Amino acid sequence: MRALNFSSGPAMLPEEVLRKAQGALVDLDGSGIGILEHSHRGKEFGKVLDRTEAAIREVGGIGDEYAILFVTAGATHHFAMVPENFLGEGQTADYCDTGIWSGKAIEEARRVGNVHVACSSGPAFDATPRELTFSASPRYVHYTSNETIYGTQWAAAPAAPAPLICDASSDIFSRPFDLTNHALIYAGAQKNLGPSGISLVIARKDFIATGATNLSPLAQYRTFSAEKSMHNTPNTFGVYVIGEVAQWIRAQGGLAAMSERNARKATLLYDFLDQSKVWRGHAQPSSRSLMNVTFRGATKDLEDTMLARAEARGLSGLRGHRSVGGLRASIYNAFPEEGVQRLVELLDDVEHGRA
Ligand SMILES: Cc1ncc(COP(=O)(O)O)c(C=O)c1O
Repeated sequence: MRALNFSSGPAMLPEEVLRKAQGALVDLDGSGIGILEHSHRGKEFGKVLDRTEAAIREVGGIGDEYAILFVTAGATHHFAMVPENFLGEGQTADYCDTGIWSGKAIEEARRVGNVHVACSSGPAFDATPRELTFSASPRYVHYTSNETIYGTQWAAAPAAPAPLICDASSDIFSRPFDLTNHALIYAGAQKNLGPSGISLVIARKDFIATGATNLSPLAQYRTFSAEKSMHNTPNTFGVYVIGEVAQWIRAQGGLAAMSERNARKATLLYDFLDQSKVWRGHAQPSSRSLMNVTFRGATKDLEDTMLARAEARGLSGLRGHRSVGGLRASIYNAFPEEGVQRLVELLDDVEHGRA
């Protein structure tokens, strides 16, 4: 039996996709060769790449003015790659500081050029900021749509006077999104899309063209765009899984259906936390993440009891991030509603001494 895995990433993927991938490891689409064994330059993988891109475009409603790129690296790679490509001398990039991930992006950008912090929700990081103060003429404005560790999420993209760049690693394809004013979106795949070590980039072609030209080819977004993510051997298996997940999302009813389901799951848990006498949510209601629900128990003992009981009931991955402690339930697209119900029952049982 599969556990109910609340891990923040790598995280649960749809079981249908995993079963299909299991078959494709041995034989991709009846070719007699497994996905790990096919040449990336061959016809079969070409079809996989095309259908993955097509499914992403369809699910995300992404037009031809945007390039779809598969970069063989996680989201952290883009913390450096974004400023290296787009933050030139004498320019300033504005960053929204909403938690540990945006903090890391800021740190990397500072190595490259001038950074202006347009807003910060620290030190508590329990809400997305309402007030943003931009620099005179930002090159771009970077934000993290969902802060995986603190469990906050922007309800909508910030209004900005410059092209937006978004780290959407932990909420991509969890709800419909408005591409307006977005120059580039990047997302590590290991939460809502597929395996770790590969990231999806959705970037305006005209914005890519403005990037630096003095970097090595694999450090430039334009190389991925010009060469269809095939400058070198891509993560073929990662591309395959992302394509299968995108097709699964489409079959579930697309992003509107994902959003409804995710809202139902998160509401169940937040409603429970709101009425509890011993469990308390971290994020302020207006900024609550639908993907990562962070909370604490009244005592450390209670949290430890809950974690021990959780394992016994087949619920795993509920410990909060090592940097902030507490508890966290990551409930991405593929996480079943029934699993959230089981968590609520467990929390209620521990609260009332029944477990
Ligand atoms: C919002 C966000 N950005 C960036 C990262 C880092 O991703 P990676 O480990 O793939 O570099 C993570 C975590 O995995 C994340 O949640």
